[in-house]
Amino acid sequence: MQAAYIEQYGKEDNLTLGRQPIPEILDNQVLIKVHASAVNPVDWMVRNGVFKEHNVHTLPLILGWDAAGEIAQIGSAVTHFALGQAVYAYTSIVKQGAYAQYIAVDADLVASKPRTLNFEQSAAVPLAATTAWQALTKAGELNAGDKILIHNASGGVGMFAVQIAKALGAYVIGTASKASEPFVQSLGVDEFIDYQQHDFTEKVSELDFVLVAVGGDNIVERSLNVVKKEGYLISLLDKISDSLAKSHQVNYHRLWVTPDRDDLNAIAKLIDSGDVKVIIDSSYPLSDIKLAHQRSQSKRAKGKIVVRIPHDK
Ligand SMILES: NC(=O)c1ccc[n+]([C@@H]2O[C@H](COP(=O)([O-])OP(=O)(O)OC[C@H]3O[C@@H](n4cnc5c(N)ncnc54)[C@H](OP(=O)(O)O)[C@@H]3O)[C@@H](O)[C@H]2O)c1
Repeated sequence: MQAAYIEQYGKEDNLTLGRQPIPEILDNQVLIKVHASAVNPVDWMVRNGVFKEHNVHTLPLILGWDAAGEIAQIGSAVTHFALGQAVYAYTSIVKQGAYAQYIAVDADLVASKPRTLNFEQSAAVPLAATTAWQALTKAGELNAGDKILIHNASGGVGMFAVQIAKALGAYVIGTASKASEPFVQSLGVDEFIDYQQHDFTEKVSELDFVLVAVGGDNIVERSLNVVKKEGYLISLLDKISDSLAKSHQVNYHRLWVTPDRDDLNAIAKLIDSGDVKVIIDSSYPLSDIKLAHQRSQSKRAKGKIVVRIPHDK
């Protein structure tokens, strides 16, 4: 099968487009014929070797852990899928990825794709939307009427977080640069803060929830000053010490997203009901995977970057 993979860690030039064997499935797995995948920042972090010392991956490594496609083969212990069923998945990041024509995935990670989306749009959802969902409903608890600040409302995760927070009935404040304001407004924020023009600590206070979907600038630490006591501060990247958060009486967690089919089902419902829309920043054929990585590394994407997987050869 065609796939994009690395044989050594490093820059995007290490991404090779070539042939790899179609994976063999285990009894508890399904084989997905992948029509689209997506790029998340973790893809190029893994490519750069972020987990190299932990020996979690085997080279050559196919990157990309979002998949949308059709069930092409079903393991003997799997009962709830049909051949040809349209599915999507956030697949295990310690295994081979989905920049490929086929991927073997544990069946309990796979869900029916949202009915109202095509494969490209569906591939944009799993990892980023699951992160937003787990941040707002599991790491923290966002309730109707709560006030939430979302740092980086314009990226893949932020796009979903803003809309999920609105669907949960929250008052949403989002940050991004001026150039991203129309995009973030279109997601339905109640307030927008241009982080290049304004210090958010002078604009907001006494918030119920802060989601930090960006790194740097001591944003996590500074956010402690705008969360009210017993409120939530969830970071997706940078860490602060638990004792510092405790001294502010804030519920702080550094979230690591985990694949979860129930979450994908909940997210598909929000999408099919029209509460959450999926916006594609850019779409690349698998052959342009290096460009797709460059776009993600620019940290300027508005919405999601998707990768189309051809099946004509
Ligand atoms: N812990 C986890 O499990 C987990 C899971 C998923 C993602 N993440 C992390 O979460 C972060 C967001 O992921 P993503 O997929 O949403 O990234 P992304 O799509 O690459 O984010 C791009 C966006 O970042 C915005 N941005 C850049 N600097 C900013 C700043 N200082 N303040 C506010 N916005 C800023 C840009 O807006 P402007 O162009 O307007 O600046 C751009 O729209 C990444 O660091 C990723 O590694 C962690």
